[in-house]
Amino acid sequence: MQNIPWTEKYRPKRVSEVAGNKEAVENFLKWLRSWEAGKPGKKAALLHGPAGVGKTSLVLAYANENNMDVVEVNASDFRTAERIKQIVGMSSQQRTILGKKRIILVDEVDGIAAREDVGGLPALSRIIDETKVPIVMVANDPWDQRLATLREKSILIEFKRLPRTTVQAQLKRICEAEKIECPDDALKSIAERSSGDLRSAINDLQALAAAGKISREALNALGYRTRDKEIFAALAMAFNAKTVREGRLALEGLDLDPPSFFQWIFDNAPEQIPDVRVLSDALEKLARADIHIQRVNNLQRWSLMKYAIPLMTTGVAVEKRKLQPRFVKFSFPSKIRFMTKTRAEREVREGIAGKIAKLCHLSTRKAMRHMLPYLKCIVQKNPEEGRRLAKALGLSSEELSYLQRAGS
Ligand SMILES: Nc1ncnc2c1ncn2[C@@H]1O[C@H](COP(=O)(O)OP(=O)(O)OP(=O)(O)O)[C@@H](O)[C@H]1O
Ligand SMILES: [Mg+2]
Repeated sequence: MQNIPWTEKYRPKRVSEVAGNKEAVENFLKWLRSWEAGKPGKKAALLHGPAGVGKTSLVLAYANENNMDVVEVNASDFRTAERIKQIVGMSSQQRTILGKKRIILVDEVDGIAAREDVGGLPALSRIIDETKVPIVMVANDPWDQRLATLREKSILIEFKRLPRTTVQAQLKRICEAEKIECPDDALKSIAERSSGDLRSAINDLQALAAAGKISREALNALGYRTRDKEIFAALAMAFNAKTVREGRLALEGLDLDPPSFFQWIFDNAPEQIPDVRVLSDALEKLARADIHIQRVNNLQRWSLMKYAIPLMTTGVAVEKRKLQPRFVKFSFPSKIRFMTKTRAEREVREGIAGKIAKLCHLSTRKAMRHMLPYLKCIVQKNPEEGRRLAKALGLSSEELSYLQRAGS
């Protein structure tokens, strides 16, 4: 058990080890006590809140501490109503199994809601009406219209982002357990950058430790994970920049080089600037920016980037301002998506993510997004540790070699 991802290794074993969100924990325990007393007000609980703050952990810790049998399902089990009835329906009719009390964990229900074609949700709703076993559902976003019925049948328990200090304290605890040296300022930076997501913070920590040394510089140099959220904020700045300086600031502190950021702007321009004439003028600016970027590449003269950046940010914003301001969501560039997902590669990635998912109580989708980049980083920076992790995860040699050569 030594070489599993740290998020798993240090997952709370008892409820008291779940950090933060005291009120949520209290409400959860109160609800379970009402089950114990034989009169639960609501038969299901819906734990909701941002990623990596302890929702799944709380349920697993409670079950572990009370020696319970956990029936765990997530979105991928919800292909059909039939399947959900098979897995959850049956087990919900039996309060104990082999002397152990049971609890049902339906993780990532919002993932189920995202698949429109399934009858899984109504099936689950009926199961809740008749269950003899506590059913805990977990979601990041519980406000999806399709979850309305399930919401009515559940007590809602909200989790919040963890405070920076809580994240930092958890990181410190892990460093001590791993006997690794870690300056407080580095831990503070990791904690800050996690925005209250302890899973990502622990993953950062493990990646840094595998790379050899935990320091603020190493953290900055790592730069392999760009948060969409940050990019979206940068895009908003770029598309609304009023001065050249504001345009430049949009890129500051972003884990993305200007040519990649160009791709994001280019791809989002048609949605942000829906008027064809204005769009055409904006594209003119982008075309010029692109010429400068090409010159930077061909001549290796980075100083030329100072012409590209104002054109692709403020230049575009000047055009956009000709239109009525209105908010349109940003999206992920199709080119980048295309490049990272050729078919064969995708299959290998999914295979790896599937194995992580199984071990780490995550859907494949989440494993892909929240764990795989770190695994890749560890494998590349510290091959020995990488091999150990690969072994613990049961990766094939093909999968391991994919991680060894894959770009970020
Ligand atoms: N409050 C917490 N206390 C202790 N450890 C935590 C806490 N929150 C997260 N962790 C750590 O982060 C990992 C992921 O947490 P968890 O699976 O509980 O997140 P989650 O809230 O269910 O996120 P998601 O919505 O993405 O499923 C855990 O394995 C654990 O190592
Ligand atoms: Mg979870």
